[in-house]
Formats: sequence, structure tokens, C-alpha cells
Amino acid sequence: MSLPSEMTAIEIAEPGGPEVLTPVTVPVPEPGPGEVLIRVAAAGVNRPDVVQRQGLYPAPKGASPLPGLEVAGTVAACGAGVDGPAPGDAVTALLAGGGYAEYATAPAAQCLPVPQGLSMEQAAALPETFFTVWSNVFDRASLTEGESFLVHGGASGIGTTAIQLAKAFGAKVFATAGSAEKCAACEELGARAINYREDDFVEILKAETPGGADVILDMVGGDYVQRNISACAPDGRIVFIAFLAGSKVEVNLMPLMLKRLTMTGSTLRPREVAFKAAIAENLRAHVWPLIEAGRIRPLIDSSFSLAEAAKAHELMESSAHMGKIVLRV
Ligand SMILES: NC(=O)c1ccc[n+]([C@@H]2O[C@H](COP(=O)([O-])OP(=O)(O)OC[C@H]3O[C@@H](n4cnc5c(N)ncnc54)[C@H](OP(=O)(O)O)[C@@H]3O)[C@@H](O)[C@H]2O)c1
Repeated sequence: MSLPSEMTAIEIAEPGGPEVLTPVTVPVPEPGPGEVLIRVAAAGVNRPDVVQRQGLYPAPKGASPLPGLEVAGTVAACGAGVDGPAPGDAVTALLAGGGYAEYATAPAAQCLPVPQGLSMEQAAALPETFFTVWSNVFDRASLTEGESFLVHGGASGIGTTAIQLAKAFGAKVFATAGSAEKCAACEELGARAINYREDDFVEILKAETPGGADVILDMVGGDYVQRNISACAPDGRIVFIAFLAGSKVEVNLMPLMLKRLTMTGSTLRPREVAFKAAIAENLRAHVWPLIEAGRIRPLIDSSFSLAEAAKAHELMESSAHMGKIVLRV
């Protein structure tokens, strides 16, 4: 297949609001050793893209400066040393950047097949949240069958993935969200939803579990840090993946010691390819069969054309969406 030399992509013209997302014509990237070039059919939009656009989350060294952490499409070319996937294969891939474009390169080890039964738009909504949730909830926090799990921001892209995965692996799932509609979406996915504007998640976890949550996945921080400690069961694990309400807090750590809690956190994007490849292998073995069996589905809120990337960001920043926002390329 002959490849064009140029493509349309969305660049961040300068740090700012959604309007700085600008369509530009740039060279089609070349796949390096161990990488594939993907003709993008759809690209996922994530909150970290918004933070990058604001100038607060620069692309890691060596990554494309274009936004976009996940795509689905067809392999168009392979770099040296790639023994799969092959040209023509339909893949979904985790990227360190560059997804808002007609073509994107990805390490072959960060590609997974488009699950049978899923559209390209659905497949593009998988990598960022599935890699993040698997890595933090199962690898880092060791959530196991029969344990209680609490995720904040339950109706977010991350939240809707976390609810479904924790449920599928036998946890009792609680999720907080900020409206009745968002709570209904969380319940539909299998969570006991808590409207944080009306109810106190600490009280509910204490009342409805033997000792509290065994694992908490938090993207809020702020005053949730102390309340997470209160809501945790003995030997519980709290994992932070963002601090939407602030990362600087004063905390009474006494209960951390008395309940033997673990507080941890991580960011996926700057991690090395081998780390992400190991997550990909676990997803392929343990999660892709559940998706193909129809037990887990990415929840798609809405899709926009690539040229409407600014509208997609406006929606994300309004927090009116539930689940994922996707760009059609
Ligand atoms: N560490 C990592 O590796 C990693 C990887 C991916 C994503 N993340 C982070 O995970 C979070 C979720 O990402 P996403 O793409 O799933 O985002 P998203 O779909 O935009 O969801 C964010 C949700 O958080 C809730 N929220 C609570 N407090 C908030 C506040 N102070 N400001 C704004 N929203 C608030 C909102 O729901 P309510 O209306 O219910 O409050 C909002 O819908 C983001 O912060 C992102 O940066 C981290």
C-alpha cells in the first residue's frame, strides 16, 4: 500500500482553552524499530489530553507533541524487528502521544487486536483506561475476588472501566458520581452508586461492608484523602491516579498506621515500553476474552470528527459526559 507523505493532525498551537486545538498538515510519521504505523480510524479523548492542552502535562521525552493517547485503526507499515502485528491488521494501541491524527506510530508491543464485535470507535476507547485500571487496581493494589472496591469519578472514562473490570473479577463495587444520571449509569454497570452531593461515601462503605473498602481508586484527592483513609478496611490499599481537587492536603496519618493501610499512586504515560507491554499481555489474556464474550463494553458518551477536537474537549471539561469521548478520523 502506498502511503501519503503528509496527513492532517490536531496540534496544540499554544497552551490554552479548547480553541488552541488546530488542524494542521504535517508529515506522516515513520515507524522506528519495534514500532508500527497505524492508519487511524478513531482516537480516544482523555482528561490527560485536556491537561496537556492547558500546558500542565507536557509530552514525555521522545513522544509526539501532538495530543492523543490511544487509537484504533489498521496497521499500514511496520518498522524493523516487528514480528506482529502485520500490515492490514486491525489494532488498538496505547500511545505516549500523537493520536489526534490520520496516522500514528505505536510500539508493536502496545498494540492489541480490535476485539471481535467492537467497532473502531469502541476499540479506540479501550487502551488508556484499561491499561491504567489494570495496572493500578490489579497489579498495584492487588484487588482480589470477594474484596470491596471503591472508585471515585465512577461515570468517568476511568470509572466506567474500573467498575466493569472490578465487577468481572468478583469484587463488590462502589462508585461515587455527581448526579443522579451519572449514578444510574454506574449502577447499570454493576456498582452501588453513591451521589456524593447527597450522601457520604465513608458512612456508606462502613455500613455496607464488613470493614470498609479493601481498594480505593481515586482521581479526586483534596479532602477525599482523609476520607479515603476513613473509608478503608484494615490492610486496605488506596491508589491515586490524579488530584482533580488538589494534591496538597493536611492529613492525620494515625489511622494509616493503626489499620496498616497502603497509599500509592502512579502515572502510566512516562513508563517504559516493556512495562506497558506486560500490561498489554495481561489484558490480552484476561480481559480481551471478557470483551469478546460481551461481558465488558466501553461506555461511549459521544463521538466527534477529528476537526471537532475542540468541541470534544469542551464537552470533557464540562464534565457532562458519561464514559468515553471519541474522535472519528
Ligand atoms: N495516572 C494515570 O496514569 C492516569 C491515566 C489516565 C487518566 N488519569 C486521570 O484520571 C482521571 C479521569 O480521567 P478520564 O479521562 O476518565 O476523565 P473524565 O472522563 O473527564 O472524568 C473526570 C470526572 O471526574 C469527576 N470529578 C471529580 N472531581 C472533579 C473535579 N474537581 N474537577 C473535574 N472533574 C471532577 C467528574 O465527574 P462527577 O461529575 O461525577 O464529579 C468528571 O466527569 C483524570 O484526572 C485523568 O487525568 C490518570
